[in-house]
Amino acid sequence: MRIGLAGVGRIGAFHAKTLAALDFVDELVVTDADPGAAKSVADELGAEVAPDAEALLASGADGFVITTATPAHAPLLRQGIAAGVPTFCEKPVAATLQETIELTGLVGSTGVPVHVGFQRRFDAGYRRARAAVESGELGLLHTIRANTHDQAPPHASYIPTSGGIFRDCNVHDFDILRFVTGREVASVYATGANKGADFFAAAGDVDTAGALLTLDDRTIVLVSATRYNGGGHDVRMEVHGEKGTIAVGLDHSLAMRSAEEGVDFPRGARKWSFMERFRPAYQAELTAFAQVARGERTSPCTVRDALEAFRVAEACELSRAERRPVALSEIEGI
Ligand SMILES: NC(=O)c1ccc[n+]([C@@H]2O[C@H](COP(=O)([O-])OP(=O)(O)OC[C@H]3O[C@@H](n4cnc5c(N)ncnc54)[C@H](O)[C@@H]3O)[C@@H](O)[C@H]2O)c1
Repeated sequence: MRIGLAGVGRIGAFHAKTLAALDFVDELVVTDADPGAAKSVADELGAEVAPDAEALLASGADGFVITTATPAHAPLLRQGIAAGVPTFCEKPVAATLQETIELTGLVGSTGVPVHVGFQRRFDAGYRRARAAVESGELGLLHTIRANTHDQAPPHASYIPTSGGIFRDCNVHDFDILRFVTGREVASVYATGANKGADFFAAAGDVDTAGALLTLDDRTIVLVSATRYNGGGHDVRMEVHGEKGTIAVGLDHSLAMRSAEEGVDFPRGARKWSFMERFRPAYQAELTAFAQVARGERTSPCTVRDALEAFRVAEACELSRAERRPVALSEIEGI
């Protein structure tokens, strides 16, 4: 297959490398607003460079992968759809709720396959947790804890266009929560704090956040995020039920240590980034995208799914700004 990729920053360069190593990728062509960055990634991987997305799409791509900064997602997704090329788009689909709603309608009406990059859906632990909920082995669910704790902040210029910590980080927790439980979020109550670099506050963002969610079956969900988890990259979910609890991410690479004497868990090397934490999931996700592009399966994470996760993030930002609980029914949807 010939795969085109736009945006070779942190995740784009990583996805390009993953794609180049996959059997089904015969040709890889990359583009970036910074031509030097595109050339350097292409040279490293033996890929081609296109001057822009239009040329890339016109060069016979069988699949289009969007990994640019967030503001370019929506226009590039429109370009991919107009060219009729199956498209993988990193989260979020668009920078705003309105654009996400419009794109959900557009994708529905054109039928061009679109797969959104919520890689936790391909992580073995989250899939086991989903199976445990589905089989009923946990019994009645009462409480879930979910966290996305980055070891260190991204570069300062990333923050003003990131959409804020709920749309950028916890949106992964919101998506996987829907995937694991099969439920929708009914209401949120969120807060945030700035205790680190000034550039978060300057962008109207926070570096640490917490949210209390209630699902439509009254399960309570405690969600947290931070850009300052010095002990390592820590992404986990605990699903507590009447008959048992299952924990995702509770392994020997856990980014914490016990205060209890004689406890030597965890014993393994820490993980420091989302790339380390989710490498196999990213590989599985991009392999699934190839199957989507070949028409062998439907999208495992649709624009509609992305819209629902984005609505929860939107509700959290509103709740944080107005310091009040927000019902999801207050947030526009489809
Ligand atoms: N799924 C995940 O785990 C995950 C992880 C990190 C980032 N992301 C998402 O991926 C996207 C990129 O994040 P990043 O950390 O790699 O950002 P980044 O700032 O490191 O890289 C963005 C790249 O996009 C390029 N770019 C910007 N506008 C462009 C345009 N119009 N055309 C072509 N190239 C353009 C920039 O030059 C840069 O190279 C963000 O939307 C982010 O939300 C997802």
